Amino acid sequence: MKIKNICCIGAGYVGGPTMAVIAKQCPNIKVTVVDINQARIDAWNSDDFNKLPIFEPGLAEIVKEARGKNLFFSTNIDKTIDEADMIFISVNTPTKTYGKGKGMAADLKYIELCARQIAKASKQNKIVVEKSTLPVRTASAIKSILDNTGNGVQFQILSNPEFLAEGTAVQDLLDPDRILIGGGSSEKDQKAVDALADIYANWVPKDKILTTNVWSSELSKLTANAFLAQRVSSINAMSEICEKTGADVREVSKAIGMDSRIGSKFLNASVGFGGSCFQKDILNLVYIAKSYGLNEVADYWEQVILMNEHQKNRFSDNMVSTLYNTVSGKKITFLGWAFKKDTNDTRESAAIKVADNLLNEQAKISVYDPKVSEERIYTDLDYLNTRSSDENKSLLTINKDPYDACKDSHAITILTEWDEFKSYDWKSIYKNMQKPAFVFDGRGLLNKKELEEIGFVYYNIGTGN
Ligand code: NAD
Ligand code: UDX
Repeated sequence: MKIKNICCIGAGYVGGPTMAVIAKQCPNIKVTVVDINQARIDAWNSDDFNKLPIFEPGLAEIVKEARGKNLFFSTNIDKTIDEADMIFISVNTPTKTYGKGKGMAADLKYIELCARQIAKASKQNKIVVEKSTLPVRTASAIKSILDNTGNGVQFQILSNPEFLAEGTAVQDLLDPDRILIGGGSSEKDQKAVDALADIYANWVPKDKILTTNVWSSELSKLTANAFLAQRVSSINAMSEICEKTGADVREVSKAIGMDSRIGSKFLNASVGFGGSCFQKDILNLVYIAKSYGLNEVADYWEQVILMNEHQKNRFSDNMVSTLYNTVSGKKITFLGWAFKKDTNDTRESAAIKVADNLLNEQAKISVYDPKVSEERIYTDLDYLNTRSSDENKSLLTINKDPYDACKDSHAITILTEWDEFKSYDWKSIYKNMQKPAFVFDGRGLLNKKELEEIGFVYYNIGTGN
């Protein structure tokens, strides 16, 4: 079976880039990304490619090449579903904020709505692909909805989790470490697996396309994120020991990373991991383990999150104690708000928690981030409900120019590892600051020796003094 027409439900950080790359690599397949959010679809259709809703290096060029040829963005969901042979579900699966499993389980209401809509709109057989990250065994719930509420047509359900990281999404999609496809064992299911594998085979070597049963595929995604986040929490735990003992966490990372069994990637100590995935997916894993009565397993993984919270809190605590135990009324500059460089995404960014802690201490914060909008920053803070929106606006200001943001500051803190911060004129920044001038580098981005020579008091995660 050759797929000619794809519908992707969800035009977000995964649906948008993933479908743009499929469209680019498969000119004979029509790809339409649909969403209920009209503003988001309008932004994807914008003539100004700087206004796409998502910033990812290389993405605008691909959208420019494919859009209007075989890549489309639309809010006409039913029609697009009906015309497609294969439907990807790529909607958000956030942590539940209500009811049973509140604060832990994945909220599957958007997934269920998609399943019901697919069932209603489909007048021919379809392959339905789980692209969203889902709790293990969700495919059986989707199947039950499709089979019980549909128009008598047949649905094959596959799991095809996405492993892209933001900031490198295009590169990760063009050259993935692997493609994972989970499917059932019946002949029809296997044909569906082959149809999806054939799409990726247009640009991914066959030996990187891995097929498994559905449950292994669903669980592998949660496992991968848990392992990755665990590495960050592990090195962050060591960073605290380094600060107490005079060891340097960068040297420790290098030394252990040269062991081929450990490997060198994902060992950068930081102010704490952020992003929409790690925390949500580990909480989901913890919830699943608890629901099977596997309390030791649940406790083990929960510790990864607790360590991450600790890392963010101890970073802001250290700022307050270093600044003579009070930041009340002091201007503190945040360089970076995004959860990592090369993205405009701020979900679960460590900057949000650090800002909230410092605002509780009555600091005055000034933020500069090269890609994050003013509106986003205030929304992130307001969402915490710690103080009123007006208070947040009066205590935190946003600058379009980094030098203005740093002027008259008592301390600068690096919360995102944007490359441009390295090339700033740190001498002139120093001149315009209150003295002593402090830098709290939450990303190990800047050169300690150079900054100390200029006159800064420099604090780096994981370096003892
Ligand atoms: P997102 O919030 O950026 O996008 C989801 C989109 O789905 C939104 O635009 C929303 O309006 C739309 N949507 C929700 N319900 C809908 C419905 N019923 N019909 C049509 N549209 C609907 O989310 P995301 O970051 O793209 O993540 C999507 C999924 O992919 C999640 O399960 C996430 O865990 C997973 N994932 C994310 C990443 C990442 O880096 N962001 C990486 C791998 C996997
Ligand atoms: C992650 C997974 O990497 C990806 O495979 C999955 O599909 C989605 O979740 P993402 O959250 O986009 O991707 O970015 P990632 O590069 O994993 O970084 C997550 C967070 O960890 C960031 O805040 C980053 O700064 C932090 N991090 C990462 C560290 O603090 N140290 C490291 O060594 C690596």
